[in-house]
Amino acid sequence: MRVIDSRIDTGSSAFAANAAAYREMVAVLRERQGWVIDGGEGRARQIERHHARGKVMVRDRIDLVTDDGTPFLELSMLSGWGQYDDAAPGAGIVTGIGIVGGVPYVFIANDATVKGGSLLPMSIKKHVRAQDIAAQNDLGVIYLVDSGGAFLPLQDELFPDKDHFGGSFYRQARLSAQGLPQLSVVLGGCTAGGAYVPALSDEVIMVRGIGRIFLGGPPIVKAALGEIIEPDDLGGAELHTRESGVSDHMTETEHEAYGLLREICETTNQRSFDHREGWIDWAEPEPPAYDVGEIYGIVSADDRIPFDATEIIARMVDGSRFAPFKPSWGDSVVCGFARLWGHLVGVIANNGIIFNESALKATHFIELCEQRRVPLVFLQNTSGYMVGRDSEVGGIAKNGAKMVAAVANATVPKYTVLIGGSYGAGNYGMCGRGFDPRFLFAWPNSRIATMAADTAETVLVDIRVGGMRGSETTEAELEAIRTEIRQQYETQSDPYYATSRLWDDGLIDPVHTRDILGLCLALAARQDEPPPGPGIVYRM
Ligand code: COA
Repeated sequence: MRVIDSRIDTGSSAFAANAAAYREMVAVLRERQGWVIDGGEGRARQIERHHARGKVMVRDRIDLVTDDGTPFLELSMLSGWGQYDDAAPGAGIVTGIGIVGGVPYVFIANDATVKGGSLLPMSIKKHVRAQDIAAQNDLGVIYLVDSGGAFLPLQDELFPDKDHFGGSFYRQARLSAQGLPQLSVVLGGCTAGGAYVPALSDEVIMVRGIGRIFLGGPPIVKAALGEIIEPDDLGGAELHTRESGVSDHMTETEHEAYGLLREICETTNQRSFDHREGWIDWAEPEPPAYDVGEIYGIVSADDRIPFDATEIIARMVDGSRFAPFKPSWGDSVVCGFARLWGHLVGVIANNGIIFNESALKATHFIELCEQRRVPLVFLQNTSGYMVGRDSEVGGIAKNGAKMVAAVANATVPKYTVLIGGSYGAGNYGMCGRGFDPRFLFAWPNSRIATMAADTAETVLVDIRVGGMRGSETTEAELEAIRTEIRQQYETQSDPYYATSRLWDDGLIDPVHTRDILGLCLALAARQDEPPPGPGIVYRM
């Protein structure tokens, strides 16, 4: 593979202006992530009380379990951002991938300093998403439980439906049956539904004095039976480890519990992080030839000015080496092979609108990767498929559908990063959330919506003018529609709006993209080869 010949003038004023604007975006991201860790109204008091009870903060708990010097990939850190009156930083739950004794695990850990660790609609979505990641990547799950259970005022949004509370228990039971260890440490209340997290676990540790499990807490017992009982007498560590057998181990302190958990992990017989099954072609990794930090200067501060996807690839892949596929045809989609932390991948990246030829080229390339068993990395930056008579005559609807069908049926691992716009059906063809990429991350400059705000404004005004009420609509009313739609689209296409709702697995700093994808690929490389799809390469 040849090294990409970069055309970027890193000394230009445009580069400097872009870089300055991007650094500001990254500063905002860091600040908001900091708020998730210890911010929010009344949180200082909650944190103080947590410490006063001798309890460890949620991220420190994870740190105490994971191997020293290994990374923890935290997922969807900004879930719930801008929702719940800004009273639920991170939706009160931390999920991510950490390494214990050399083996990667999914962590699901409640943050008891946020609404008593109770689960809001976005918390349950995050919990379930983490379990789905475990299922797809063959990972055991460690639950650090410290939760008030369902957030009762919003019970209709989190209790009854398929992927709600019940769905999390359904997944837990099935993950265990798949041979993926489900391990719980009980560090707080596990009431009602919450009791099933430890109860469905393969092995359970309770910490004396803080861990409690009961189907009905003391207030319910008092109301139902007239019994007045202390929480520890109803469901403490002593009761459950010595009498009921709901728990298997009891420790005196949290620190002791994490040591014991690490010992349990030594017995789970799981494949290590470094294990490679050999079906993903691998070579010794090398860093990109260009400075990864230059991505800041390449991404246009003005999203109407395009930037070249090849320049991003040059700062992401090993040695900046890239073997392009059909480089002289359908060039609004860049396709080609490269290595990411040693793993051979097929990269598909947008340079704006997807035309007929670009859709066919991408389809052909997806088929090639599927046939050769090469994982796919999608870098989305598109306003969607081309509209207009010429495009329709060329069959854009069927050509876009070919790409969508190829993505949907590819069984090799797929990973998606939103590096710019993710609009319209471009989101689908480029492996958006609906197409089940193993991980989907977004950059803080990204935008996601059916269409851009100004296009939506024009479409909706045209619909009103051409519709039944068109002749009675005044110019002032049209102006009000324009303003309302523009504001709505601008708000809803903001990356923080998207990440808050778990449309992605997290907003990431572009300079970390390579390392994060490398970690995700290493997870797939330890697995058996996925069953092949149709494997036919049709020339388009
Ligand atoms: N639904 C809604 N809010 C809840 C909640 C729940 N299930 N559990 C806790 N909270 C809220 C509290 O109202 C409080 O909110 P505020 O800070 O806005 O006043 C905050 O979380 C902290 O709760 P608090 O009771 O002060 O914390 P604690 O650390 O002393 O106790 C629990 C934590 C989880 C043991 C305790 O809150 C509890 O028992 N909660 C209810 C458990 C339950 O019955 N759940 C049913 C699930 S189906």
